[in-house]
Amino acid sequence: MERVVYVNGKLVPAGQACVNVYDHGLLYGDGVFEGIRIYNRQAFRLEAHLRRLFESARAIRLTMPWTTDDVARAVNDTIAANGDLVDGYIRLLVTRGVGSLGISPASCREPQLIVIVDTIALYAEELYEHGLRLITSSVMRNHPNALSPRIKSLNYLNNIMAKLEAVDAGVPEALMLNHVGLVSEATGDNVFLVRRGEVQTPPVAAGILEGVTRDEVLDICRSMGTPCREVDLTRYDVYTADECFLTGTAAEVIAVVEVDSRAIGGGTPGPITQAIRAEFRRRTKGV
Ligand SMILES: Cc1ncc(COP(=O)(O)O)c(C=O)c1O
Repeated sequence: MERVVYVNGKLVPAGQACVNVYDHGLLYGDGVFEGIRIYNRQAFRLEAHLRRLFESARAIRLTMPWTTDDVARAVNDTIAANGDLVDGYIRLLVTRGVGSLGISPASCREPQLIVIVDTIALYAEELYEHGLRLITSSVMRNHPNALSPRIKSLNYLNNIMAKLEAVDAGVPEALMLNHVGLVSEATGDNVFLVRRGEVQTPPVAAGILEGVTRDEVLDICRSMGTPCREVDLTRYDVYTADECFLTGTAAEVIAVVEVDSRAIGGGTPGPITQAIRAEFRRRTKGV
């Protein structure tokens, strides 16, 4: 069944959903976006995603002509228009809009709002059972004073360059270090370690996207009574951790069992990772 896409106030068949080639979102990656899960026909933590979208827009001085309610309505209308999808994935984009060929956003009059609803499968199902192998990328995560990783911008080249290294190495993901060599995140997911029963994840200041799933997992830890803490992490911490896992809207919660040819813990998904994964599944899918 052909998907229905929201483009600037109109719901159109996916094959007819177009952007103007002068849109600065296309020309320069000038815009912001969100990826949101649909569980049981509901957008999961929509408010948190909209907050981050509006904050990303403020950070790049993109003035939103819509309220959060307007954008929430566009999202919910697009979910309804793709009513056969019980579980799925939303890609919500705001571009700077059509402008002249120079980079200045001053020529762009009107931001464009696009909502795509579809399915997504980031990793093969068996990897959820057995865990991921990772490498550390030689590509440094963007310096926060160049382009803050907190901005979910349409320009993902920094992450894509690291992902290419993972692909070359024959593994599904890469760990990225920040400008001082500390662990930041994976190319599209946040990173967690478990060390002596404590769950640890880099702080926002380490140059990461403040993940909605990360926030949910920290809440899960608190609800399970599992100690958790935001703390600077090095590669040594990763190599010697008892467990490691990634979180993200598309990835959900997935174990990491090897990094740079070092087995993590016993080389299989650990018990705390599995407990968090089970609770995440219960909160999102009710099973
Ligand atoms: C670079 C990066 N880090 C982390 C995440 C995880 O964030 P969230 O849980 O909000 O999807 C994503 C995905 O959106 C991402 O692209």
